Amino acid sequence: METLSTKHLLGIKNLTAKDIELIFETADEFKDVINRPIKKVPSLRDITIANVFFENSTRTKLSFELAEKRLSADVVNFSSNSSSVAKGETLLDTVNNILSMKVDMIVMRHPSPGAPHFLSRHIAANIVNAGDGTHEHPTQALLDTYSIREKHGGVAGKKVVIIGDILHSRVALSNIFALQKLGAEVMVCGPITLLPKFIDSLGVKVELDVRKALAWCDIANVLRIQLERQQIKYFPSIREYTMYYGVNKQLLDSLNKEITIMHPGPINRGVELNSDVADSEHAIILNQVENGVAIRMAVLYLLASLNQ
Ligand code: CP
Repeated sequence: METLSTKHLLGIKNLTAKDIELIFETADEFKDVINRPIKKVPSLRDITIANVFFENSTRTKLSFELAEKRLSADVVNFSSNSSSVAKGETLLDTVNNILSMKVDMIVMRHPSPGAPHFLSRHIAANIVNAGDGTHEHPTQALLDTYSIREKHGGVAGKKVVIIGDILHSRVALSNIFALQKLGAEVMVCGPITLLPKFIDSLGVKVELDVRKALAWCDIANVLRIQLERQQIKYFPSIREYTMYYGVNKQLLDSLNKEITIMHPGPINRGVELNSDVADSEHAIILNQVENGVAIRMAVLYLLASLNQ
């Protein structure tokens, strides 16, 4: 059986293109499973997984939990705001206590970049990064590129622009790594203040004008402005951001071409994306969410198979 080159999924940076293709092929099989009347397989019947979330989540948390249940794993959920973290317990103590209850795998979201990498140096269980601060969100990038492959028949050679708050976005960094490993051309677009200083070193095109960016691309992945991570003002007002970087039907119609629209969610409707685009036939936003379950089933299954 083919296996992944890593026992943890910490980021896309340390995956190979072969790893990603293996995850996609495995997800194809699980997508068939979750579309059957009986959506469950016994693959992880003897495995216990803890979903450890130190930050809010709707999609990622529910998607991992559904993936685990569809694979027949036992699942426990931990949320930091209702835990003993509030009493001063450290991350390592928290996770070691969870693991001593015979948990085999940890899925973790944490506001600190590098938190899952730190854990991986101290514990034996497999770790899946469900988003670490502004760093990486590997399963989001996998489901995004899988959704591009599904819609366009492949990723290689496609022109993908990521629009918005690149500076604070773990989705942007993981997507850049995944798209490049799979042979896509990548552009980032946003106000100069929301582009990282090191952006040129990532080998992406940079465009400040959203109209030019959209005119170039086949696919636009539109990101949310992450006000909760912004300690200072990066642009004068939300209204101004929307005026210069908001994606709406009028703008897309004026380009006279078909562009696939993606968004990782949650959407700030009327800010980075108008409803007339988000709910249009060109948007694959809910397909991304659907594919997230199959991708996460594939990741969990492939990591668990390394322990057998
Ligand atoms: N896309 C994403 O990570 O969404 P959640 O924050 O709701 O999990």
